[in-house]
Amino acid sequence: MLKRTLLFIAAFLLLTNPILQAHEGMWIPMLLKKYNIADMQRHGFKLTAEDIYSVNKASMKDAVMIFGGGCTGELISDRGLIITNHHCGYSSIQSHSSLEHDYLTDGFWAMSDKEELPNDGLTVTFLVRMDDVTEQVLKGVTDAMSEDARNKLIEAHITQIKEDAAKGNHYQIKVKPFFYGNQYFMFVENVFKDIRLVGAPPSAIGKFGGDTDNWMWPRHTGDFSLFRIYADKNNQPAEYSEDNVPYKPIKHFPVSLKGVKKGDFTLVFGYPGRTEEYLTSYAVDMIQNKINPERIKVRQNIIDIMSADMEKDPAVRIKYASKYARVSNYWKKWIGENNGLKRLNAVAKKQETEKQLTEWIGDSKDRIAKYGYLLPEYKKIYAKYTPYKLAEEYFYEAIWRMESVKLSSKLAGLLRKGDKFTNKDIESLKKYADKFFKNYNRTTDIKIFKNLVKLYYENAGKDFQPEIFNFLKPFEHFDIDEETAFNLFADVYFAKTFYLDQTKFNDFIEKYSYGSATSDKIQNTPGYNFFYDFVNVYYTKILVNTDKYTNQINKLNRLYMRALMQADTSKVFYPDANFTLRVAYGNVDTYEPKDGVEYDYFTTLKGVIEKDNPDIYDYKVPARLKELYEKKDYGRYGENGKMHVCFIASNHTTGGNSGSPVINADGELIGVNFDRNWEGTMSDIMYDPDMCRNITLDIRYALFLIDKFAGDTRLVDEMTIVE
Ligand code: ARG
Ligand code: ASP
Repeated sequence: MLKRTLLFIAAFLLLTNPILQAHEGMWIPMLLKKYNIADMQRHGFKLTAEDIYSVNKASMKDAVMIFGGGCTGELISDRGLIITNHHCGYSSIQSHSSLEHDYLTDGFWAMSDKEELPNDGLTVTFLVRMDDVTEQVLKGVTDAMSEDARNKLIEAHITQIKEDAAKGNHYQIKVKPFFYGNQYFMFVENVFKDIRLVGAPPSAIGKFGGDTDNWMWPRHTGDFSLFRIYADKNNQPAEYSEDNVPYKPIKHFPVSLKGVKKGDFTLVFGYPGRTEEYLTSYAVDMIQNKINPERIKVRQNIIDIMSADMEKDPAVRIKYASKYARVSNYWKKWIGENNGLKRLNAVAKKQETEKQLTEWIGDSKDRIAKYGYLLPEYKKIYAKYTPYKLAEEYFYEAIWRMESVKLSSKLAGLLRKGDKFTNKDIESLKKYADKFFKNYNRTTDIKIFKNLVKLYYENAGKDFQPEIFNFLKPFEHFDIDEETAFNLFADVYFAKTFYLDQTKFNDFIEKYSYGSATSDKIQNTPGYNFFYDFVNVYYTKILVNTDKYTNQINKLNRLYMRALMQADTSKVFYPDANFTLRVAYGNVDTYEPKDGVEYDYFTTLKGVIEKDNPDIYDYKVPARLKELYEKKDYGRYGENGKMHVCFIASNHTTGGNSGSPVINADGELIGVNFDRNWEGTMSDIMYDPDMCRNITLDIRYALFLIDKFAGDTRLVDEMTIVE
């Protein structure tokens, strides 16, 4: 028996467990000492676990932050200077941009503190400390409990933990589940709210290669921007004020000019958002074969319309730059992800894991009782869940993404308040509308609307159609095709929804008072009815079901995860990313994208010049950069006469890791993480050590741009440079 178990474990490790191979994993900072530091040092790291995470002394964690809502940033001076990605600062840079001051196109460089630009709503968040609170959270919780009872009890415990931790301080407290609720950690966070834009290269550098090169290696993007944290006189977080001063951190990263060689140790410290490494074959099959293809299709439509309009009109390009980037990013990612999953035979690999787990379960009566039903149950539930999940995706990707729907939902929110609305509600709606219309192009919205409505109608499933689509019925009698009918519908929709016109919107909102006249006016618009009917479908037909099944799946996942861990106690599992601070480590490395081709680990400015093409928007190299290239004027930032631009390594990263510090064996900053390679985009579901690489901006390129290209030398002077 023992022999069989051992054999099984060995097979399990070999076949299904790439985790023990180098570099997969996003590790919990406070557990490095226990699980990872020895291995990290074997890979070349020269410092200790406390140098990365400590509650007793200044450590790297004090220099790493959540930037905004979904990126990472890090401190690079003792005056609160932050470096993150250009694409992370993008919406801030865009919000300061107009045709007159086009910082997106021309770049922006504050030559003194005074010129740094405040950003309403932008925050950065530091981790003060984290604690394992599993015991408190799961106190009194048993497997026999219903999911509802379990969730209620857990919620109550979490509320209590948060309350206790928040006493007597200004910190923000979060408690998050790990390993599908088998473990819980608390995060005590310090949030800064006065964050100013300091510098950004032109998009022709910061977004060089645009969406054409996005998710690709070899890459030549100078993807960085600079911000600064301001604090009050006592160095504490404060709302924006002219009196605020640059924040004095206890730790910032020294910046290394030494560069990297193949094989060098690298560490990425940041906030990976979401991975799903432990999914079953049923889930992977659904994502790969049912969900991703539809998501890709919907977004393809949006992208085609937006890009045609942006191509025609520079004003539209500015308005839609940020929206376009958001839509196209995951469109492309999902295409790459599906390619990778297919190449890896991910579903078959998962089935193999499941087969082995089933054998392990079969070895004991106790296991059979606890886990025996899991896999058959998954199979049943996924079959039922898939159509609802698909409808939900359609709702989010097609309907919720429409600009007019967003505005309607804001007005619906106001209506819902009845006569209890306040001046503040009106003010915030006005503010929302200002931003909305600043970036709104009616004709683009109309085209997208026509397209997406039809796509939803044809693909979301007949059980999920809103009442408003009944207008199609009469057309059937007259033998008018769907396309024409939807076009007519859209024309009426836009003509009669008065608030989609900025002047009319402002006019209406100025005079808003609750009462039949104003509320009727909104309720009589097709825009509002459309929104209302869809929300109705969503809540009564979609969400009730997706909620029901995800609840059931959550429970299965929790037990399945536990079984996986019990089946292999010799292995250290890492929890899926959940936008908490993690450490990934690996080495600078090349890879072979296909037979006979090896990609080098770094790119240089020569490649930027090679791609230069004044006819293609994504590849127009600024004249000043060409000049510096001609003169080879790289100063101390060059290496053997070359300007290094990006490099790749085998760190396991995902969305949210953008802007993360990439750190060398000595704890110095060597780059800023910003992307992954095309062949590795499936790493959120299945990591492949041969193919998965994270893409890093070489910090020397950023310094060269700040110093030589922009001439903002004061910024380089405030950094701690290690030559
Ligand atoms: N792919 C990178 C990441 O997921 C960079 C995205 C930048 N956006 C873009 N559409 N090019 O965020
Ligand atoms: N580009 C991603 C981000 O913005 C990083 C990634 O997905 O690798 O976080």
